[in-house]
Amino acid sequence: MATDPSTVTNPVPRFPDGFLWGVSTSAHQIEGAAGTRGPSVWDVFTSEPGRVKDGSTAAVACDHYHRYREDVALLADLGVDAYRFSVSWPRVDSPGGLGFYDRLVDELCAAGVRPVATLFHWDLPVGLDWLERDTASRFAEYVTRVADRLGDRVGKWITLNEPAEHTLLGHALGVHAPGRKLLFDALPAAHHQLLAHGLAVRALRACGAGDVGIANSHGPTWPASDDPADLEAAEFYDVLLNRLFADPVLTGRYPDGIGELMPGDVRADLEIIGEPLDWYGVNYYAPARVGAPQGAETESGGLALPAELPFSVREIEGRPLTDFGWPVVPEGLTELLTGFRDRYGDRLPPVVITENGCSYEGLDDQDRITYLDGHVRALHRALEAGVDVRGYFVWSLLDNFEWAEGYGRRFGLVHVDFATRERTPKASYGWFREVLRGQRRPP
Ligand code: NOJ
Repeated sequence: MATDPSTVTNPVPRFPDGFLWGVSTSAHQIEGAAGTRGPSVWDVFTSEPGRVKDGSTAAVACDHYHRYREDVALLADLGVDAYRFSVSWPRVDSPGGLGFYDRLVDELCAAGVRPVATLFHWDLPVGLDWLERDTASRFAEYVTRVADRLGDRVGKWITLNEPAEHTLLGHALGVHAPGRKLLFDALPAAHHQLLAHGLAVRALRACGAGDVGIANSHGPTWPASDDPADLEAAEFYDVLLNRLFADPVLTGRYPDGIGELMPGDVRADLEIIGEPLDWYGVNYYAPARVGAPQGAETESGGLALPAELPFSVREIEGRPLTDFGWPVVPEGLTELLTGFRDRYGDRLPPVVITENGCSYEGLDDQDRITYLDGHVRALHRALEAGVDVRGYFVWSLLDNFEWAEGYGRRFGLVHVDFATRERTPKASYGWFREVLRGQRRPP
């Protein structure tokens, strides 16, 4: 396991005491053991031919369900403070399902790793539908069951993961489960997830939870040019990605023009959605360059965007690309966070980076080290600029099931051989361990 020499000659700057360092995963992407739980919309989606690039499913995935002890040992050896995992709603609905999370949480606590639980990471039980308002109340009931059982040991909660992607990819473009292509008619799915978030915050508070956040995906939007048509398109894209799920949560209001598109009179719902949070989670991968529609399909990081959309996504030139084709732009993280602070001011609670990472092949993954090193430094610059950042989680501990991409995109600090499920730490794992050790050394 190689260690990047730059950490020796040029160590990552010191973060404040108590800063939370961690790694993230999600249930559907790693657990496997699909036969021990009810089906989710992702099981249905992956069973349909042509949905997943390599034709794979997550029926076994990393087999974390059976190998969780080995994975917790990897976390302990890495030296993280915290581990962000997700609870699978269909598993909790199945006999013995909560027992698995009981065992996982006990194992984490025994290893001295703080559990951070995400309550929804896209694996909706079959039979439920985010287009239906009732799903929000069903979510709150499920959250109460989880918090009642795990709340004595799980101190930090995330209601939803990336509702923007779940809405856009799953309900508007049809490239993720449940595979709907509704374009803007997908907006009720956004509203119902937001309502689910607000109800979940209340349910968690009622169970005594004191450290509640959400994990939203964000990135700076760079207009393709100063041309008014490009500026307008970029502004619209920015509303969809950076404000649709942040404004209601942080300010109790939808961005102008959006509330009217939502189902019914949403004023009372917005009061619930705007329940104060203890912290705000940001998943950051890359910025987007956006311009006026080009009258044809455009491509964004391997994603085909239909011509009917009122914007087009352009290439960001002159930057290295990850294997996924996403540009590597660490300073985008500083720009994003300072921009958020300026936009939301006192309404922005402390921020935690709940995901940041990249897909590259190979065990000697120097490109991943360069990516992560750059982003940790960019995060420190945001701190220096006065943004209250309290934690950083790498996506991901393990190579895993990358949704519609199948097993072809490797985001892990630990390599997984999907024939044998053998885990092998990569060079980036050794690098991160050194960073964590450096943070703990007396100044
Ligand atoms: C965001 C999602 O939360 C996660 O599930 C996914 O694997 C990573 N980004 C990488 O695409």
